[in-house]
Amino acid sequence: MAKKAISATYARKFESIFQCPVCGSSMQVVDLKSLVCSHNHTFDFAKQGYVNLLTRPTKTKYKKDLFQARRKLYAEGGFFEPLIRSIAKFIIKQASKKETVYVLDSGCGEGFHLSNVCEIVTAVGKTVTGVGVDLSKEGVAIASQHDSNKIWCVADLARAPFKDKQFDVILNILSPSNYTQFNRLLKPNGFVLKVVPQNGYLKELRDAFFDEAEKQTYSNKGTVDRFQEAFPEFDRSRICYTMSLDQSSIHSLVRMTPLAWRAPEERVRSFLEREAADITVDLEILIGYKQPD
Ligand SMILES: C[S@@+](CC[C@H](N)C(=O)[O-])C[C@H]1O[C@@H](n2cnc3c(N)ncnc32)[C@H](O)[C@@H]1O
Ligand SMILES: [Zn+2]
Repeated sequence: MAKKAISATYARKFESIFQCPVCGSSMQVVDLKSLVCSHNHTFDFAKQGYVNLLTRPTKTKYKKDLFQARRKLYAEGGFFEPLIRSIAKFIIKQASKKETVYVLDSGCGEGFHLSNVCEIVTAVGKTVTGVGVDLSKEGVAIASQHDSNKIWCVADLARAPFKDKQFDVILNILSPSNYTQFNRLLKPNGFVLKVVPQNGYLKELRDAFFDEAEKQTYSNKGTVDRFQEAFPEFDRSRICYTMSLDQSSIHSLVRMTPLAWRAPEERVRSFLEREAADITVDLEILIGYKQPD
């Protein structure tokens, strides 16, 4: 079976979660080709297996090259492995109360986190349905090429194409948020797991790229404050480690991070000449629990 039909067959099992991004009505998979609403708004599956639910084309700064670099760094360098294990633990705990746990990754990029988190959850005998959404077609295309066992959608999280109360867990990793939508999409007792950088995150890159004056020590206080306003009942935990990267992984890291976009070219070039580097990963996991309606 062609990839498109495999993905459409998989999505058909879960078609009841969808809501038309144009008119809000229910949707069905038709002819293993399209997702169609009851007013005939039609969204086709692409040959790679994702479905594009954008109502108008949207430009993003994140291009194919950046997502390929991410995928390479994550897969070969194990860059986020400790983070992925931590996230999986939270989901396994949630899954203990359910038959199947529905996980949405909002801003899933090239899909590595969602695929790997779900793999760990499945390995301990839990059933998980994973849905990844991103504004970038390039990112979602890579995600669906690697994993046919998920629903991958190009969509804007501001108009998330799902009915209310469909997800037990919403992941939001280093990506923008829409807390009104997250709260709408969560089932009762569900939670949002948001990953935000802490002040040591990639500090070696900032040290190498910028002078003291332009460096601006990073603080996530504003983000945490907004999260707390939206989810007054919340937990937080910090995850900090150092990764030793070889030259190939250094190249991937530099290609994947927006930090390099505004750094002087010379400094980027000289960093790329290093044969090895220790890089700090310093993140905070925020868990916000569904607010009563
Ligand atoms: C820094 S990347 C993080 C991607 C992935 N979570 C990771 O950790 O590798 C931020 C992602 O958010 C996506 N994004 C930005 N605005 C969005 C929106 N309104 N709806 C859906 N995705 C969005 C971008 O396309 C991009 O893939
Ligand atoms: Zn419609």
